[in-house]
Amino acid sequence: MLDFTFTEEQKMLRDVARKFTDNEVRPFAAEIDEKEELPFDIITKAAELGFLGVVFPEQYGGGGFGEIGYCILLEEIARGCNSTAVTIGGHESLGAMAIYLCGNEEQKQKYLRPLAEGKLLAAFALTEPNAGSDAASMKTFAVDNGKNFLLNGNKTFITNGNIADVIVVFAITDASKGVKGITSFIVENKWNGFRAGKPEKKMGIRGSHTTDLFFENLEVPKENILGEVGNGFKVAMETLDVARVSLAAQCLGSSKEMLELSIKHANERKQFGKPIAEQQAIQFMLAEMASEIYQTESIIYRTAWMIDNNIPCSRESAICKLVATETVCKIADRAMQIHGGMGYMREYPIERLYRDARVNRIFEGTNEIQHIVIARDVLKSTK
Ligand code: CAA
Repeated sequence: MLDFTFTEEQKMLRDVARKFTDNEVRPFAAEIDEKEELPFDIITKAAELGFLGVVFPEQYGGGGFGEIGYCILLEEIARGCNSTAVTIGGHESLGAMAIYLCGNEEQKQKYLRPLAEGKLLAAFALTEPNAGSDAASMKTFAVDNGKNFLLNGNKTFITNGNIADVIVVFAITDASKGVKGITSFIVENKWNGFRAGKPEKKMGIRGSHTTDLFFENLEVPKENILGEVGNGFKVAMETLDVARVSLAAQCLGSSKEMLELSIKHANERKQFGKPIAEQQAIQFMLAEMASEIYQTESIIYRTAWMIDNNIPCSRESAICKLVATETVCKIADRAMQIHGGMGYMREYPIERLYRDARVNRIFEGTNEIQHIVIARDVLKSTK
């Protein structure tokens, strides 16, 4: 039987997250952006509410809400502040998620539990200066010296790079084996040989910190190999398959916020003697925004349901990422148009939301990469 309603628990989570966003997140979003300041206070409060582990089972310190619950949460938080949502995403969707999906029991108890409880923060270090879309061409390498792996190299554009206690790092362990020569490791920021760079100056999501990471003869104990030696690329891809759905949920939240602001403005702003909401040109834009939001929402929660039911969904998750990120940019553009000159002023939230939206088509796999993932799967299934 099909059931498209949220459970009572999911509705409760949405209500708590919405109230938190209204009271503790949205009021500070402009200041966070202006000062490029990490929303530490908000993250601390989110941790107290259990938001940093909502997606994980209770046995690992999580909320047991699964992917649907997590999408509900990120959607709500993103309505108030994209920088906060991205900080949570780097931690929960990527760093901690990799350990949940691919870690052994010991690693889950040692690392996932405190991450899910919000006692530690996580990051996911895949991208390098010359290995972005072509993630497998990374140069960071780790050499087996008997007891440990000796890690050398550097990563770039890492969300939470300078604040994460635990970082999932991908490195070459056997250059002769191509993608099968990549291994993932759980690294602690307090270990010798680890250094994070300064936060980058960005166009949007300016309160989310993005940094380089450097590893210099960093000794990683063998028990910190995540998954099997040589299986690191799969760890990365499997994590990204899940993360792309929650990123889509963030975009959905931001899209809804912009639609709401646009409706409000269209009803208040008068030109030619009546609210601009009475002009058909504005009505059509609002109708298109609402239609796109409905489409995006439908595929996100359907795919989140697939994840919660262990149904493989690489193609669907790439579709969610592609559709939701293109949608949020289109909606930002229309919202700006509806707001006119006012929307362009920093005094109004649309200016920030417009800047925040753009990166979504780039990070967690560019949209060109999502086309590749979808096309490969489409062609494979019709062979
Ligand atoms: N699940 C499991 N395994 C997978 C997989 C998946 N979704 N996708 C690929 N694999 C496996 C393949 O099966 C293959 O293994 P076998 O040979 O055993 O079959 C292996 O991985 C290699 O796959 P491909 O041949 O498809 O590899 P490729 O080099 O052609 O690259 C790609 C594939 C999809 C383009 C990949 O490189 C990719 O996703 N690139 C984008 C990287 C990305 O998303 N980066 C974002 C970083 S995170 C971030 O941005 C967050 C932040 O902090 C800012």
